Amino acid sequence: MMIKPDAVENGHIGNILEKVTTAGFKIKALKMTQLTQRDAELFYAVHKERPFFGELVAFMTRGPILAAYLEKENAVSDFRTLIGATNPAEAAEGTLRKLYATSMGENALHGSDSDENAAIEAAFHFAERECF
Ligand code: CMP
Repeated sequence: MMIKPDAVENGHIGNILEKVTTAGFKIKALKMTQLTQRDAELFYAVHKERPFFGELVAFMTRGPILAAYLEKENAVSDFRTLIGATNPAEAAEGTLRKLYATSMGENALHGSDSDENAAIEAAFHFAERECF
């Protein structure tokens, strides 16, 4: 997962991590960092033909993010339930995006969409010796 620049700027790191761990996710790795233009373009390469790609890269590089590698049974689907819909206007009550996101683009959190992508994204952010 990533806590995106909007949620970091708005001071939500502590509240989000508290809710994530209370929901049963174990933190295997954690890092505050700032993505470069190249990092964001690589991370979101699947979206490069989308009209919002430039806006997405500008947003994701404008300030620090918090990357976390999480572990749980059914982690991908349970995390997507916890964070809610991509568009916070459509996110269910109590979800992290309902609580902390402000728009479709500035939606506070990223969660991996499959186990395969979770492994790729964990390797993108963390060296093996940073994972516990
Ligand atoms: P995320 O789950 O990180 O995956 C892709 C991101 O693209 C998504 O969250 C949003 O931040 C962004 N995104 C998706 N759709 C739109 C859109 N229509 N306009 C702007 N940003 C979008």
